[in-house]
Amino acid sequence: MTKRKMKGLRIVLLAIAVAGSCAAADLTGNWVVTDPLNDGTVRRAYFDLKQEGDRITGHIRLTQFYYNITESTGGPDGFTVTGTMKDDKVVRRVTYEGKLVGDDLHLLARHGKGIPAIEMLAHRAPPGEGAMPPKLPLPALHKVSYNGLAKTPPMGWNSWNKLASRVDDAAVRAAADAMASNGMKEAGYLYVNIDDTWQGERDAQGYILPNKKFPDMKALADYVHSKGLKIGIYSSPGPNTCAGYEGSYAHEEQDARTYAQWGIDYLKYDWCGARNIYADDEMQAVYQKMGDALAASGRPIVYSLCQYGRADVWKWGPEVGGNLWRTTGDIRDSWESMSKIGFSQSDLAPYAGPGHWNDPDMLEIGNGRMTNIEYQTHMSLWSILAAPLLAGNDLQHMSPEILAMLTNHDVIAVDQDPAGKQGRCLWKSGEQEAWVKDLADGSRAIGIFNRADDSADVRVKWPDLGFKKAPHHARDLWSHTTVKVKGPEYAATVPGHGVVLLLVGK
Ligand code: GLA
Repeated sequence: MTKRKMKGLRIVLLAIAVAGSCAAADLTGNWVVTDPLNDGTVRRAYFDLKQEGDRITGHIRLTQFYYNITESTGGPDGFTVTGTMKDDKVVRRVTYEGKLVGDDLHLLARHGKGIPAIEMLAHRAPPGEGAMPPKLPLPALHKVSYNGLAKTPPMGWNSWNKLASRVDDAAVRAAADAMASNGMKEAGYLYVNIDDTWQGERDAQGYILPNKKFPDMKALADYVHSKGLKIGIYSSPGPNTCAGYEGSYAHEEQDARTYAQWGIDYLKYDWCGARNIYADDEMQAVYQKMGDALAASGRPIVYSLCQYGRADVWKWGPEVGGNLWRTTGDIRDSWESMSKIGFSQSDLAPYAGPGHWNDPDMLEIGNGRMTNIEYQTHMSLWSILAAPLLAGNDLQHMSPEILAMLTNHDVIAVDQDPAGKQGRCLWKSGEQEAWVKDLADGSRAIGIFNRADDSADVRVKWPDLGFKKAPHHARDLWSHTTVKVKGPEYAATVPGHGVVLLLVGK
């Protein structure tokens, strides 16, 4: 090689090296963090970054959450980005610190005060991988025929409140065993519902497979059926569920057929991962799609809409074939959460009825963070609301008091009354409230609630409860005794956070 040629080659190599180092020192690109979970599924977080001088823009996708980068500082040697996601009235933020080390991005997730920072390693991913998929074409609105199910509010158990991601095949069998043998089945509890985190990947034909925690979904359904019970499952219209597992996006019909083939009797369909794709005013069409798919599946499947009471779901829930719809955000096992949800439901009474119910979320009874008096209020209020009674506790290890509460036939009869009328708040004085539910035989259930911390002497005039004539006696549904109620008003001492629940005849 001549000297001139050598010099030329050196210049070219230098140029390549400079160009290479420039490219490597640029954060621009799609980066992925891969996190394998014990259940065999893999969680992926994508950082689609564009670096322009000292500004970084782009998106962060943490499975079901999709953030726009709204703030940034620094560059490859050290940067901070903040992603923002607006959902309904809630604004969520995530912040990552990072730097480029060789070919990798070293990241430190700062998800908020008190939450320990998490170190992550991101590799380059092909452009577009992990991008939030587009909106699917939405069907024209029409009425999905009523499936004939849930003539009274559904009763059963759901895994989420107690187990969250710890639910597995054994836990579902144990819940079914307990329900079938401890008196709950006789009391009317029927559905054993698997909530989020059962999903695995899809196979080459797009069929959803359960993850390692559920080796054989059909066998599990057969087992639950063998106990005289029914089984439920959970999915989302989005690509991912709330816990980041595979959703039914673009597989709605296929999933409905799979559920039917497994022998599933109930589907809870959770908006969560769909919020990045569809607007709230598209929700009806999105839910209709699964309503149609269930109707075409060849199996009667209770359809539970879970979208936290957004978009006035009670006005269109029955149109999409919904048997129940959530009216609020998630319940927690606390007096504040339960009472805030339960006592806010009065105005929704006109929308409940046989086949279609307002759902103020599942029961927390027996989960340990409320007193038994508060759990009694929870059970009483949910029954007056004609709410679904889905126990959410450990059915194998509950105290006799909790079991007795969950299986109180008198209270359940109020909930399950065939007229399906939701009760309303008819009287309020300070922190005391009286709720009344009209029953099919003309009698009425009355709940006198004391939301205050201390016990209170409550006096309510019968006409304030809708009675023209004062009754002479009533049945106390917790003590199972008949009480004399002479006079123009009802008077009782109600413990703090407690209730007196009465049945008053025609
Ligand atoms: C949402 C629902 C809950 C539960 C979780 C599962 O938060 O409202 O009831 O299903 O998702 O991830």
